[in-house]
Amino acid sequence: MNILLTGGAGYIGSHTSLLLIDKGHEVTIVDNLISGNSKLVPKKANFINSDISDEKKIRDLLKKEKFDLIMHFAGLVKVEESLLHPERYKLNNVDKAKTFMKVCMECGLNKIIFSSSAGVYGNTPSMEKVNESSELMPTNPYSKTKHEFEKYLLNLSKEKKIKCIILRYFNVAGADEKKRSGLVAKKSNNLIKSICEVATNKRSNIVINGDDYDTQDGTPVRDFIHVTDLAEMHTIAAENLNKKNSEIYNCGYGEGYSVKQVVLEMEKILNRSLNKEIGRRREGDIPYSVADTTKFKKEFDWNPKYNSLNYILKTALEWEKIFE
Ligand SMILES: NC(=O)c1ccc[n+]([C@@H]2O[C@H](COP(=O)([O-])OP(=O)(O)OC[C@H]3O[C@@H](n4cnc5c(N)ncnc54)[C@H](O)[C@@H]3O)[C@@H](O)[C@H]2O)c1
Repeated sequence: MNILLTGGAGYIGSHTSLLLIDKGHEVTIVDNLISGNSKLVPKKANFINSDISDEKKIRDLLKKEKFDLIMHFAGLVKVEESLLHPERYKLNNVDKAKTFMKVCMECGLNKIIFSSSAGVYGNTPSMEKVNESSELMPTNPYSKTKHEFEKYLLNLSKEKKIKCIILRYFNVAGADEKKRSGLVAKKSNNLIKSICEVATNKRSNIVINGDDYDTQDGTPVRDFIHVTDLAEMHTIAAENLNKKNSEIYNCGYGEGYSVKQVVLEMEKILNRSLNKEIGRRREGDIPYSVADTTKFKKEFDWNPKYNSLNYILKTALEWEKIFE
């Protein structure tokens, strides 16, 4: 396949590009490097430094080259930032994405795999796993933009203008086994990133944001999926897009780990304890977010390869050691 991939200089887009190239597909990346890093762009990918909403550049590209489908990763991704600047998130994740999609459709490119988020489910009332039909109640501006773009794509699909696969990611973590990519986000609030920074002496301590949630140990529970398994879910979705109707799939392992469990697992790997403190709850954090993953596994007879918290943490740590 020849794939047009937005956001390929970022964390998940670069891992997916690497896997697609490893499998023999061709990848053209469009990224404006607003939060990405050109070092993550695979050497064998064609890289275009552009905003997705630059109509001329995208149109010129699509006139020159024929793509089989789009993988749309580009976007702003920080929940806390979206609370401060909701308008930036609406502009980037919804308005610009619509402009991009409009140009693609005008040029006859109408198949898309979209990076959505478990954030669209919001705070589910019970401590149950969510499936693709669960109610959607996004609680912050970032998750609302994901929900809005999902609705836009599903409407286009109903009108038979496009075919889309929406992938709702849970907590993506870990790094490429060959250390070609990993998470580079600076001043990130990402739990595993912070733990790795403390483990490599780049940060002084881990802040556990709230230990008074109604969970087994009081800290929030999340479903962590290794980024390379998530990349593989994209390749499977792409390979099956022609055979399927537009669909939505959860991307997780269906297993929850609490923040304290994650810290403890890293302490076991390091065989020492890490500096940590209990901080305040973060606005919008929910106690429990775990995927029901039956749909993807059943439809594609898929089993993850890296379903181990220990492996996720080890690969993230190895990346943290080499990336300055
Ligand atoms: N990381 C997670 O745990 C997670 C969870 C759920 C959903 N997602 C979604 O997955 C996608 C990728 O996330 P990530 O963690 O790799 O983030 P990231 O910040 O590492 O990557 C996003 C990339 O998009 C690029 N970009 C942003 N706006 C752009 C624009 N207007 N034009 C061109 N390029 C632009 C950035 O430069 C960056 O390289 C996002 O859409 C995000 O919402 C991520």
